[in-house]
Amino acid sequence: MKSLIDNLLYAIFLIADTNAIDEMGKTFEQNNITTKASKSFRHVDQVHGKLKELKALDVRIIFGGFSEPVARYVMCEAYKLGMYSSRYVWIMLSEYVERWWELSNNTTCTRSALSQAVEGYFIIDSLNALTDEDRSSANISLRDFLLDYEKYNGTKPMSPYATSTYDTVWTIALTLRKALQWTKSGVNSTNKFSLESFNYDNGEKIRKVFFNIMQELEFLGISGPISFQGPDREGIAVINQNQGDAMRRIALYEPDNGKLNFYCPSCQPILWKG
Ligand SMILES: *[C@@H]1O[C@H](CO)[C@@H](O)[C@H](O)[C@H]1NC(C)=O
Ligand SMILES: *[C@@H]1O[C@H](CO)[C@@H](O)[C@H](O)[C@H]1NC(C)=O
Ligand SMILES: *[C@@H]1O[C@H](CO)[C@@H](O)[C@H](O)[C@H]1NC(C)=O
Ligand SMILES: *[C@@H]1O[C@H](CO)[C@@H](O)[C@H](O)[C@H]1NC(C)=O
Ligand SMILES: *[C@@H]1O[C@H](CO)[C@@H](O)[C@H](O)[C@H]1NC(C)=O
Ligand SMILES: *[C@@H]1O[C@H](CO)[C@@H](O)[C@H](O)[C@H]1NC(C)=O
Repeated sequence: MKSLIDNLLYAIFLIADTNAIDEMGKTFEQNNITTKASKSFRHVDQVHGKLKELKALDVRIIFGGFSEPVARYVMCEAYKLGMYSSRYVWIMLSEYVERWWELSNNTTCTRSALSQAVEGYFIIDSLNALTDEDRSSANISLRDFLLDYEKYNGTKPMSPYATSTYDTVWTIALTLRKALQWTKSGVNSTNKFSLESFNYDNGEKIRKVFFNIMQELEFLGISGPISFQGPDREGIAVINQNQGDAMRRIALYEPDNGKLNFYCPSCQPILWKG
């Protein structure tokens, strides 16, 4: 991984319509990491040409931010140009449905070609699932969740947002419960309100109450620990790698100490074809 980070010197950006890349570019600059090239395209027709330019520059580490259909298109072109396997490190900035490379029918590549092209790619993402041995605050394991998901005929393939959507419902429920406790107990007279009297014209006050409650919420959801800083969820980032057609967690970024932990209980070693 150390050498991977050193090699960021040869990193490039390849993008379609995303601000994430600009943000990242700034962070790299602040940390004195030079990028070799930054490319963007407006239409998939341009992808082949842009990839060829990168290949000519001998770029080896490629960050890509694309929508899912575009990602399939890009990886198909990468396959045709041989820009995959051990010479190339692909790092995706967006999350897609499970095994997104199997829907190859909309590209000119076969399923097996696309699967080869995406083998070993990395994704940096927010934590979106508990590890096998953990149970949420509601005493639900990831396995329980998946069984329920199956039972209630959840759509397939499962969206990467399924677990956090589920936790959002919990967040709402816990917030409402707390708000009801407040109104009943009258603890906070400065916050006197009643949920029953809510309408969209007097919503401001209740909004503040909900916001205050959420700032103090802390629980373990199916998608991992939940707490809020301002309106945003405080996130633990995860690095996953595609190892043999399945995404495996290889490291956790712990915001508390600013370190990458490659030895978390659920972390697998990085696999790299020699
Ligand atoms: C980046 O380089 C400048 C000039 O060499 C130096 O002052 C600064 O501390 C470096 N920043 C980091 C994060 O290494
Ligand atoms: C398939 O490709 C066409 C043309 O590139 C595009 O307009 C469409 O959105 C794609 N559909 C899917 C499901 O990827
Ligand atoms: C590709 O396959 C998926 C699922 O089988 C289907 O929904 C989609 O319409 C297909 N797209 C094309 C362009 O054939
Ligand atoms: C959580 O659920 C498991 C399995 O259903 C059960 O064995 C365990 O006692 C439960 N723990 C708590 C604290 O309720
Ligand atoms: C899920 O689908 C099956 C088969 O179509 C059906 O029998 C069942 O009632 C559905 N379950 C729910 C919770 O909708
Ligand atoms: C009461 O509400 C005020 C304003 O929202 C807040 O600053 C204060 O901490 C609350 N007090 C209690 C006991 O919750």
